[in-house]
Amino acid sequence: MRQQILIVDDQVSFCHHIKALLENEDYDVSVAHDAEQALGKLYSQSFDILLTDMRMPKTNGLELFDMARKIDPDISGIIMTAYGSISSAVNSIKQGITDYIQKPFEPEALLMAVEKTVRERRMLNEIRDLRNEVDRRYAFGNIIGKNHKMQSIYNLIQKVAPTDARVFVTGETGVGKELVAKAIHFNSPRKNKPFVGINCGALAETLLETELFGHERGAFTGAIRTKRGKFEYAQGGTVFLDEVGDVSPGLQMKLLRVIQEKRLERVGGNDPIAVDVRLISATNQDIKEKIRSGEFRIELFYRLNVVPIHIPPLRERIEDIPLLVNHFIRILNKNLKRNIRRVSTRAMSQLMHYHWPGNVRELENILERAFVTTDDDIIESVIFSSEIQDVRPDAPLFTVDIGIPFKVARSMVEKRFEKAYLMEALKHHEGNVSKTAKETGINPRTLWRKMKEYEIDRTRIDPPGKM
Ligand SMILES: Nc1ncnc2c1ncn2[C@@H]1O[C@H](COP(=O)(O)OP(=O)(O)OP(=O)(O)O)[C@@H](O)[C@H]1O
Ligand SMILES: [Mg+2]
Repeated sequence: MRQQILIVDDQVSFCHHIKALLENEDYDVSVAHDAEQALGKLYSQSFDILLTDMRMPKTNGLELFDMARKIDPDISGIIMTAYGSISSAVNSIKQGITDYIQKPFEPEALLMAVEKTVRERRMLNEIRDLRNEVDRRYAFGNIIGKNHKMQSIYNLIQKVAPTDARVFVTGETGVGKELVAKAIHFNSPRKNKPFVGINCGALAETLLETELFGHERGAFTGAIRTKRGKFEYAQGGTVFLDEVGDVSPGLQMKLLRVIQEKRLERVGGNDPIAVDVRLISATNQDIKEKIRSGEFRIELFYRLNVVPIHIPPLRERIEDIPLLVNHFIRILNKNLKRNIRRVSTRAMSQLMHYHWPGNVRELENILERAFVTTDDDIIESVIFSSEIQDVRPDAPLFTVDIGIPFKVARSMVEKRFEKAYLMEALKHHEGNVSKTAKETGINPRTLWRKMKEYEIDRTRIDPPGKM
């Protein structure tokens, strides 16, 4: 590919002279006589090298190069200067200029500078390609991890995605079960049809049944309209049964029947409706124990567990932590319009030594919190969720510890308060999440997310008055 060069110099005849020189060497050359003209060209065309005069009216060469890099971060710059001094050369190299030449120069000097820049660009491109290659091997779509078990999960996803096999994903909270379920769906022939997730642990039995299978008009008091269930919504696509271990025995039977017959009846309806969905289930509970104790039907388990995928907890794959940290920093920078470069060595070592009860989700939360409390471009310290875990109703919400930076301290108090508030509210509503959300004015999704973040288990909440 021919290299594209933009020459910027206010001396018209000089520009034409070096244009001819470079074209003779097979470069593609454009010319501008001031920064404004140059920017116009940079916006409309992509260049490899900006070859610019230093001294120009209004905007100088370095300033122009800065602006050019905002348009195209990969552009290389060569500065031509009649006022060459050591300090300006050093400055320009610091700002990312690849080379500078002192005017007046021999044609060979210019050609050498350009060739050197071209060679450097080639090398950088090769390194970048290699790095992308490495990144690709350490990730499957947006699932990050180089741990060998994660690698076999990528292979398994690739093998199982094109089939309709039912997949059962297990692993602790926050390890990425939903992420894996989505990766399977979006790499399957069903990818243009819906992926419909339902949290089976979040709803009471009757509500879950109508959510899954829908209901007919008049099926029960309040059923003023016919409603389609998740299975019907997902027609042709995938249903993700999250926390499937929480499905009640009665509903387990119905689910089994739908799987066997590939048909369902809406609640209060008699006409069977054919359904074509792929099922992916997940649980963070010990499903084998539930089978032993008779809470989960083994026939249903066999049906759902055609391909088991177990995701190991984060503490068993700490080599993935630096990769995940980079991944989340990249995402958070983009979403929060920040420019944080990395975490300090000390913070990284803390992260590598933590036991991660909340797994990848906790890591994500910790970094998000760190973004809020960091003004710098390096995250110096992190607060672990366990530091805000031990909230008991009688414990004081905060003590002032001026040894902790203000923003970090404030965020810790905020989190403690949030957790205490949510626990109190949930207790008041006997662990009923939708009711708590409604009464407190918290979005139900937010409430679920925060309950996960703070590891609040609504089934373990003591009813009011019993403590
Ligand atoms: N390997 C990974 N790479 C990148 N992001 C990940 C990875 N694993 C998890 N995450 C992120 O962590 C968060 C939690 O993941 P997810 O919701 O899939 O976990 P889960 O296992 O379903 O948790 P739970 O059991 O609590 O429902 C998500 O934001 C997800 O994108
Ligand atoms: Mg989940």
